[in-house]
Amino acid sequence: MKSISTVSWAKPGTLRFLGAGLLGFALMFAADVASAGPHQRPDHPAAPAFAFNPTTPAKTKLGCRLFFDHRLAKANDTSCASCHDPAHGWTDTRRKSRGALDVAEARRTQTVLGAGFVPKLGWSGGIDALEGFVLAPIARAHEMAQDLDALVVELSSSGDYSRGLEAAFGSSEVTVGRISQALAAFVRTLVPGVAPFDRWQAGDQNAVSDSAKEGFDLFTGKAGCAACHTGWRFTGDAFHDIGLEAGSDIGRAVHEPNNPLARYAFKTPTLRDVALRPPYMHDGSKSDLMDVVDHYVQPKPARESLSPLLSSPVLSDREKLNLVDFLLTLTSVTDHTFKNCLPERKQK
Ligand code: HEC
Ligand code: HEC
Repeated sequence: MKSISTVSWAKPGTLRFLGAGLLGFALMFAADVASAGPHQRPDHPAAPAFAFNPTTPAKTKLGCRLFFDHRLAKANDTSCASCHDPAHGWTDTRRKSRGALDVAEARRTQTVLGAGFVPKLGWSGGIDALEGFVLAPIARAHEMAQDLDALVVELSSSGDYSRGLEAAFGSSEVTVGRISQALAAFVRTLVPGVAPFDRWQAGDQNAVSDSAKEGFDLFTGKAGCAACHTGWRFTGDAFHDIGLEAGSDIGRAVHEPNNPLARYAFKTPTLRDVALRPPYMHDGSKSDLMDVVDHYVQPKPARESLSPLLSSPVLSDREKLNLVDFLLTLTSVTDHTFKNCLPERKQK
């Protein structure tokens, strides 16, 4: 908690009129508000949902079961969690995924942690709504290769989801729309949890190391990271070319062909739980967090699309370590209680 002297609005004239108890309460409240920095996780953040698909516990549970169900793939061998594995920060360990949604060239699997807050989904932001996005991997030939009508027949005949559908939608009918709504509702519950960084921001000086504190100063200061990694999720959800080696994947330019800055621009990922999910970047080209930091200090290729927000910070080895130590403090220990939703049937 910050000291009373930092509560700038508390003008003496106003305070004289308040009773002692009320005064104490008001200052406590003000101090809490004042201590929440722009990067601190808010209390109980909830991903916005469409009015037609409110997030209810029954629907979320159904969506969770679907997320871990290998029958969503034609060969019954791949679930969403095969690529978006909770044990790896809701992604996998491959540099490139086995398939990609927007372009022929494979990209790294994105995390679905916090995806409910992301306005434009995919590395190049091709789809706005989770309800639409979640059906794409099921149908895509090189992901789950499943015919959606065949999936409806398969799940209907098994009867496994009857009770769950009844609870979530009022009847046991399996439809493509219900599958997408339930999956979207589940993904919206994957909210990044409280991390040591947040406890430090809330006033616990022992929650993170001195090195991490220096790292955060660098992150928001001389290293220039917070120009793009903004807010409590550490992303402005914008697309930037940060100077990675260019391949045939032109990124955001697929959707904004006339914007010179969109070429080789990919979405800024959240840095919440980032330590849990190497390798990094849309092409999986950076194997650990030190590699990432090194990338930002190295000279970049001179190309028109390079983000003007990129600085080329000069950082000592110690400062690079400080930055990595800070990034490690963004890892939460949330139990998303997803395991409770799994059906009795053996999961691969
Ligand atoms: C074969 C691996 C694979 C499977 C299976 C898979 N995904 Fe993905 N997922 C990806 C890849 C790769 C991306 C990045 C797509 C792109 O930008 O080209 C992605 C991106 C996403 C995103 C966007 C996240 C963001 O922040 O923009 C969501 C949401 C998502 N997947 C949900 C799902 C759901 C739900 C399922 C199951 C129905 C699923 N995925 C199955 C590989 C997979
Ligand atoms: C110009 C905007 C911008 C700045 C400045 C910036 N980043 Fe990034 N960051 C991005 C984008 C965009 C990506 C994804 C790029 C890609 O995959 O093509 C990214 C990716 C990352 C990743 C990998 C995340 C993942 O899940 O793959 C980390 C870690 C990261 N940045 C940390 C930093 C640090 C530390 C700094 C400061 C030294 C920094 N960033 C500065 C935009 C930026």
